[in-house]
Amino acid sequence: MDMGLVQLVYVSAATKPLSDVELDEILTASVRNNMKNGITGMLLYAAGSFMQVLEGEEASVNATYAKISDDPRHSGIILIMKEAIESREFAEWAMGFKRLTAADVQKHPEHAHLLSGKFNAKAVETDGSALSLMKSLISGNNV
Ligand SMILES: Cc1cc2nc3c(=O)[nH]c(=O)nc-3n(C[C@H](O)[C@H](O)[C@H](O)COP(=O)(O)O)c2cc1C
Repeated sequence: MDMGLVQLVYVSAATKPLSDVELDEILTASVRNNMKNGITGMLLYAAGSFMQVLEGEEASVNATYAKISDDPRHSGIILIMKEAIESREFAEWAMGFKRLTAADVQKHPEHAHLLSGKFNAKAVETDGSALSLMKSLISGNNV
């Protein structure tokens, strides 16, 4: 069944520490492809781990997620959630990006449990505030 507009969240681990240039390469390709495919969302990088939200028509999200899952730059992908949504939460970002620092985490102590160095998949899964963390971090960070 076609779910229409969906939102998907996963966490993963970078296979090696990524430089700003390497992260920028991921982001540039993401924005270019996502604009073509009607995908919006946000990518966070912290302590060698990723958390990403993808939004769009189900077929596009599935195809993008499949491609991302095959990318050797990360592994250990854990799908946290995929659900139908009425409207996009990251409509303005073909792919927002933030590299999280200790200072960012200090600024958002209410979300500190989501980050035990790396993203804590269990906490992200059970807590439900991962999306609000992403939204609070990205404000003023349009791509
Ligand atoms: C953590 C991570 C997130 C990514 N996010 C996206 C994305 O949102 N959209 C996308 O098209 N590619 C994304 N990629 C890159 C894809 O895996 C793939 O390299 C890229 O889409 C290939 O683009 P090309 O076919 O234009 O060369 C991501 C890769 C990684 C490692």
